[in-house]
Amino acid sequence: MIIEPVIKGVVARASHPYGCEQSILKQINYVKSAKSIQAGPKRVLIIGASSGFGLAARIALTFGGSNADTIGVSFERGPSDKGTGSAGWYNNHFFKKYANREGHTAVNIQGDAFSDQTKEEVIEAIETYFEGEVDLIIYSVAAGVRPDPKGSDDMLRSAIKPIGQSFSGATIQLENDQWQQQTISPATEEEIDATLQIMGGQDWEAWVDALINVESIAQGCKTIAFSYIGSEVTHPIYLDGTLGRAKVDLHQTSHSLNLKLANYQGNAYATVCKALVTKASVFIPGLTPYLTALYKVMKEKGTHEGCIEQMQRLFSDKLYTQDSVPVDAERLVRMDDWEMNVDTQERVQSLLAQLNKDNFAQLADYQGVKTEFLNLNGFGFDNIDYSEPVDLSVFHK
Ligand code: NAI
Repeated sequence: MIIEPVIKGVVARASHPYGCEQSILKQINYVKSAKSIQAGPKRVLIIGASSGFGLAARIALTFGGSNADTIGVSFERGPSDKGTGSAGWYNNHFFKKYANREGHTAVNIQGDAFSDQTKEEVIEAIETYFEGEVDLIIYSVAAGVRPDPKGSDDMLRSAIKPIGQSFSGATIQLENDQWQQQTISPATEEEIDATLQIMGGQDWEAWVDALINVESIAQGCKTIAFSYIGSEVTHPIYLDGTLGRAKVDLHQTSHSLNLKLANYQGNAYATVCKALVTKASVFIPGLTPYLTALYKVMKEKGTHEGCIEQMQRLFSDKLYTQDSVPVDAERLVRMDDWEMNVDTQERVQSLLAQLNKDNFAQLADYQGVKTEFLNLNGFGFDNIDYSEPVDLSVFHK
């Protein structure tokens, strides 16, 4: 079939396998030329490995100096009569192909991170491929639903909403490049609680506990999960909203996990990353205008990074050096240091104040944001002929 981009609102409904391959190759090439990760981990479990920060971390640790073997967990959809399958499906496929080609073990496990069954499958894989132990556990799940942990048949659904008061702001529909004003009413207590159970630290802790229980934690094992704090212009919808509540919970979990891992001379850190275009982030109401302004300013200043640059810098400069891991007063690792630079924030806020439905594509870096979104799904690569039909049957399980 011929595969063209299909976007509904801010969700991609099609992905191109060979474009996804290009995206993987681009990231591999970057980490091979970047500052190398010295003394990095060799056996890494990544939960949420198929896109965004989790995928970038997997690529950085495999090809960026650490030569890690990896087990990656993700929840992706393969091709079927109904559609092309998700980009993450192809990312897994091609990551494995290139990792294997260079002699690295790369195990892909498709399953719901929240389920006991997936945890058991991973424990088995750790026995089989890692001689029973892991050196690093990365928790990078961005999910909107999970089964009720209390065991009912219900699914919990997260809601990205403000708390206490309504939020009014603009959002950009990637489907038709339209700037839209919207008002989001405050979350109910139930929505706040569900979002916390899905995006807070609960499942991260469950994973680490499960691995402690089966004695799969190596000496010196670290664990990290990703967080966001962001600028005061995004606080009403992010930090002060349901997602922020969940991230505060994640930060607290990092402290309890740090105590548990101390028994193994290990550590746990919540790592605060930069705002970037990913499948998950474009879904956050009101964030896209901020992203377009941030990209514009950081590119002008030469400080812009994508997921892959963030992850390579995290491992080479912060997590695996001779020195102790640099953290802030709340023991957070700050990869958003360049985003939060005072001059950057002043310029972003003044640019944002000028943006409206008629000028956002000219004044801010909307093109950069849109291109990155297309790239995430395997589109917009110059060296792919998108008029060529693709045989998807080779990508079935
Ligand atoms: P993403 O959408 O690119 O990746 C999410 C990953 O989670 C995918 O591998 C997906 O397959 C996996 N996943 C989703 N539901 C799952 C389930 N039920 N079971 C197993 N795997 C599942 O998202 P992104 O942006 O990389 O997010 C990862 C983490 O980084 C999140 O905690 C997010 O809050 C955080 N973060 C993201 C920032 C951004 O601007 N994108 C900034 C700072 C932190």
